Amino acid sequence: MNNPIKDKWEKHYNSCTNDLPLPAAVLLHKQHLLPAHGTALDLACGHGANALCLAAHGLTVFAWDIAAAALTRLAQTAKERAISIKTEARDVTQYPPAPDTFDVIVVSRFLERDLIESIRHAIKSNGLIFYQTFIKDKVADTGPRNPNYLLGKNELLQFFSDWNIIYYCEEGTTGNLEQGFRNQAMIIAQKP
Ligand SMILES: C[S@@+](CC[C@H](N)C(=O)[O-])C[C@H]1O[C@@H](n2cnc3c(N)ncnc32)[C@H](O)[C@@H]1O
Repeated sequence: MNNPIKDKWEKHYNSCTNDLPLPAAVLLHKQHLLPAHGTALDLACGHGANALCLAAHGLTVFAWDIAAAALTRLAQTAKERAISIKTEARDVTQYPPAPDTFDVIVVSRFLERDLIESIRHAIKSNGLIFYQTFIKDKVADTGPRNPNYLLGKNELLQFFSDWNIIYYCEEGTTGNLEQGFRNQAMIIAQKP
């Protein structure tokens, strides 16, 4: 069946010649919080910089994205680095992760509010969420323009407010806008 979101992203990745992005800041700068072993999911992974980081850390990694074209490049990169990643072309809104499946889930620059409850259930007890995505209070023309895909103030924090909050950052439009972590919010939280 025709899926305009899939078509859009397949087109994007088929014409994308960018270098592989870095892992999301929330993971890149806080890798020391990861468990030494277990299963991890990079949800809506794109080229899978987070997945590669998680696998290099020794976790068993699954990487899902609606765009097969993104996963082809990720599989190639993983092969070159002799890293194992289980890639799957999957519409996560139709096929969300099953309950109690992952020790770690990483989501970066992707927001589907209807999926938050499934993500919360999919993480095992004591497991971790690393989540980073765009906010409405952006100071630069980056990320989506559609407000449906942008976080309200402290919204990311509220998604996990009953978990153990290990780290939260949302600078919004406070202070010197030339500096700091702007345009996105990020959270690391542990499921009780
Ligand atoms: C802005 S990109 C972010 C990619 C990666 N997480 C990153 O931070 O570089 C958003 C990603 O979400 C994927 N995506 C969009 N809708 C999806 C869906 N329903 N199921 C799975 N992936 C989806 C797109 O294909 C795209 O790779």
